[in-house]
Amino acid sequence: MKNNRYPFYFISVGLVALLLGLLCGLLAGFQYIIPDFIKSVLPFTALRPLHTLLVVSWILLTAMGGIYYYLELNFEERKANTNLIRWHFWLFIATGLGIIYAYVGSHFGGKEYLEFPSYFYFPILLGWILFGLNYFKITKASFKSWPVYYWMWGTGIVFMIYHFTEAHLWLLPYFKGHFIQNTALQWKAGGSYVGSWNMLVYGTSLYVITKISQDDRYAHSKKAFFFYFLGLTNLMFGWAHHVYIVPTAPWIRYLAYGISMTEWIILFSILYDWKKNLGKEAILNYPLANGFMKLANFWVFLNIILALLISIPSINLFTHGTHITVAHSMGTTIGINTLILLSSVTFILESTHQITAQAKRKIQRSLRFFNSAFVGFWLTLLILGTKKGYWTYFDQQRTFGEFQDSLHGFYILFFLFGISMAIGLYLIVFELLNSVKTLLKINP
Ligand code: HEM
Repeated sequence: MKNNRYPFYFISVGLVALLLGLLCGLLAGFQYIIPDFIKSVLPFTALRPLHTLLVVSWILLTAMGGIYYYLELNFEERKANTNLIRWHFWLFIATGLGIIYAYVGSHFGGKEYLEFPSYFYFPILLGWILFGLNYFKITKASFKSWPVYYWMWGTGIVFMIYHFTEAHLWLLPYFKGHFIQNTALQWKAGGSYVGSWNMLVYGTSLYVITKISQDDRYAHSKKAFFFYFLGLTNLMFGWAHHVYIVPTAPWIRYLAYGISMTEWIILFSILYDWKKNLGKEAILNYPLANGFMKLANFWVFLNIILALLISIPSINLFTHGTHITVAHSMGTTIGINTLILLSSVTFILESTHQITAQAKRKIQRSLRFFNSAFVGFWLTLLILGTKKGYWTYFDQQRTFGEFQDSLHGFYILFFLFGISMAIGLYLIVFELLNSVKTLLKINP
């Protein structure tokens, strides 16, 4: 399937979803400052799910496009079923447009992060099944010698199908009738399906660093497999720190606490080792893919510190539901997922020589600009969260309205950092879309 254009379609639509997602994030951020801004057309309750839908679509579509492309490169003799890819792609596009339409019209029917009417569950599930069928059909012959990234991608797909289904169990009468079980299950499933897509993204990071350093030993090493199993344990049990405040059995909380403490440490150590051992030639051949991956490493480090802190139950009590949680989720989806995926896209462009020297310079400049703004954005979220935690427990003489008014200056700062971050990312994405267009032209 040398001429299969669908991996690039996935990547292009992923990049466009990022552009639109940033726009919705900015509009939602502006409503922090002026709550009535376009409220009658797109209230915060619609903008927030639109923003999360679009940025999550960016992550999933770009990871999937990359995986399809890498499979094509590595299994030339075992063709993917192009019909299945085509169905997968168009099913996701149609479903995505349907969900956007529902959100814009304020038709909600689900739970947090999956606020769309529940019937959208079926086409999404079918898309994942088609992805899985193709994936295992291509890779099954070499199953016994799979490097770690094939394990991560395979497990990510299977667990996503399982946990996405679990996230819809609340539709059953038993869960509808039991509030505690319903909430615990919902937050559990949320943590686990994020863990599943992380498998796709972290697998991609291992694939890219292995190929950049042209040393596949790493992907077969004990350390890489140890990291894989640790990630899997986190995927299966790490969700429990999401349910600390739900009155569930104590052992669940202790187990979750222990497991959360291990999170990401190994990823950090792998990326650190890779960076230390990287040859000059690899850096010269892949300046952009390297640049994005190194920056992801920096954000893994910052996010580990935050994640470890907010997994401590007595701290979690203060931070739960504040902007510190948002700093954690945006810090990881932007700082880790987005940067790893940008590294994957630039790796494809650099290895096929489809990106000009001028575009590379522009991207490097925009990346520096984006990153400085992102540091400010993340710190502002932490300050906002700390203030909310303090107000909730120690400052109840002020009303919620008075408290919100006191944050006005920080909301302006948040928006200004947000707009700078978005400008940096826009400049990067435009260059990438141009280069992917060239790739599409030479793959008729
Ligand atoms: C790659 C870029 C981005 C990604 C991946 C991303 C991801 C996310 C995620 C996952 C959430 C949900 C947070 C939670 O529930 O804890 C969120 C919320 C939000 N994001 Fe972003 N975001 C991005 C860029 C931006 C930008 C540039 C802005 C501009 C100000 C922004 C503004 C917001 C706002 C206002 C919320 C709602 C927070 C709340 O509920 O109060 N985002 N984002």
